[in-house]
Amino acid sequence: MPYKKVVCFAAPLLVLALLLPMKASAQESANCLACHSSMKGRVKAASGNLIELNIDTQKFESSVHGALACTDCHIKFSDNPHSSPNAPVPQEVLSVSSKISKKYPVDPVAAAACVQCHNETYNKVLESVHGRNITVKHQTDGALCLDCHGSPHYILPAGNPGALMGRQHQVETCGKCHGNKALNEKYKMEENVMESFEESFHGRKLALGHTRVPVCSSCHGSHDIKAADDPTSPVFGNNRLKTCGKCHKGANEKFIPAITHKMPGPIPYYTEKALILLVLGVFTFIISHVLLEAFSDIRDAIFRKGGHE
Ligand code: HEC
Ligand code: HEC
Ligand code: HEC
Ligand code: HEC
Ligand code: HEC
Ligand code: HEC
Ligand code: HEC
Repeated sequence: MPYKKVVCFAAPLLVLALLLPMKASAQESANCLACHSSMKGRVKAASGNLIELNIDTQKFESSVHGALACTDCHIKFSDNPHSSPNAPVPQEVLSVSSKISKKYPVDPVAAAACVQCHNETYNKVLESVHGRNITVKHQTDGALCLDCHGSPHYILPAGNPGALMGRQHQVETCGKCHGNKALNEKYKMEENVMESFEESFHGRKLALGHTRVPVCSSCHGSHDIKAADDPTSPVFGNNRLKTCGKCHKGANEKFIPAITHKMPGPIPYYTEKALILLVLGVFTFIISHVLLEAFSDIRDAIFRKGGHE
């Protein structure tokens, strides 16, 4: 039937037409990737920054941003990127970009572009102890998006075992800075944070693959992390009743000090060592006593035997 034939031809065309708008961003990315997927290695860009030229197409496409065009973040670039760098940039992005450009000098507009789609999150981060390190103290040591989530091109969803902020990698990722001696000295932060977590009941269970013990963000939050002595911090004073209480029903004032990063004070430390020594001493005494007695029994038995012969 001719009618059926028409439908047969028209249906795939219709599907194709529906897909076309989605393909536009992929096409744009393909233009950039024509160069950036085949170029390899690091070069010094015109701006003087050392940059990695290569973008792994497959990894980019399977990231959370795989459907975006490169130019959704690299707003200033066009299809022929390096000749027309002055595309209009939204005011909101420009404003963030000016605050963070010291931290991300390669393309600060791209590093600020996240605010278009993750507005609330971005503003929380800028107000956190990490963001204020950059915006108020004018340093570059505090964490912004890429320090925690990794390369903007390869971010994985939180549930993915490779995600840097997921259970499998978070401790290691925060630890890159919080286990750094120079940084801890510069900001007078507790030296013992990473070790104390790893040696805590929680940390040990986490290493064994336990799925409900806390990681750093379970106690500190993620985008709105505050200094531990800030009264709005979830680990400040009695705020811990609620923080520990999320998982420990009925956590009270006696329970909440059970977890801390602080170095054990000198007195309990030596008391503990002294107790261990005492216990070891007593055991050594008992064991040698038993051995000596057994030895003297054997010796007596041999002598008596010898006497009879
Ligand atoms: C003709 C090849 C080519 C194409 C197409 C291309 N790039 Fe590049 N890109 C380069 C080279 C070469 C460099 C490094 C040298 C430089 O900075 O000029 C670079 C550098 C960059 C940088 C680092 C910033 C900097 O300071 O230069 C970014 C970001 C970038 N490209 C994004 C893009 C985007 C987005 C697209 C698509 C809209 C794109 N590129 C298309 C060749 C290309
Ligand atoms: C989700 C936002 C986002 C998308 C999408 C994105 N980029 Fe980027 N890109 C960034 C940010 C942020 C930086 C780092 C800027 C900085 O360090 O100053 C960056 C850096 C780069 C660099 C320099 C690498 C370096 O070592 O600093 C290149 C080249 C680049 N991007 C190319 C691309 C290409 C090609 C695409 C598309 C396939 C793309 N980007 C898509 C956000 C993005
Ligand atoms: C054009 C909009 C857009 C821009 C720009 C953008 N994102 Fe996203 N982002 C998304 C979408 C859409 C998702 C996927 C949400 C989902 O699948 O639930 C996402 C997901 C994410 C996730 C993972 C969420 C999860 O599942 O754990 C992170 C982290 C993230 N983006 C960070 C960034 C960063 C950092 C930048 C800037 C360098 C950025 N995004 C720029 C739209 C955007
Ligand atoms: C101090 C580390 C840290 C920084 C900095 C950070 N994030 Fe996150 N982010 C996290 C953690 C932890 C999670 C939660 C992961 C999970 O749910 O397992 C998360 C989750 C997300 C999510 C998905 C869940 C949600 O809240 O929507 C998005 C999107 C996201 N981050 C975007 C960003 C953007 C954009 C920035 C920069 C403005 C940023 N993050 C900076 C640690 C960080
Ligand atoms: C069970 C809850 C909990 C977990 C999990 C946790 N913390 Fe803490 N953190 C606290 C408490 C409570 C404090 C307040 C000071 C104290 O008692 O040590 C604190 C304080 C801090 C401080 C400030 C230290 C100072 O006084 O200078 C840093 C930095 C920190 N934590 C980082 C981390 C990192 C990184 C992780 C993950 C490896 C982590 N925390 C995991 C509860 C936690
Ligand atoms: C890029 C390095 C970096 C990363 C990654 C990072 N931090 Fe930080 N963090 C800092 C610096 C630097 C400070 C001190 C900022 C200041 O005082 O100006 C800080 C401060 C803190 C504080 C407050 C310390 C105090 O004085 O009480 C906490 C809590 C904290 N970070 C937790 C985390 C957690 C949890 C993660 C991972 C989810 C993380 N940080 C990831 C660099 C980092
Ligand atoms: C994200 C959930 C979560 C948070 C938040 C949390 N814990 Fe735990 N905690 C656990 C789990 C799960 C265990 C292991 C239970 C088991 O396997 O017996 C545990 C075990 C413990 C233990 C050892 C065993 C016990 O039950 O006595 C102590 C002590 C402890 N937590 C104290 C704290 C303190 C103090 C806080 C707040 C500063 C806290 N926890 C926050 C989930 C959490």
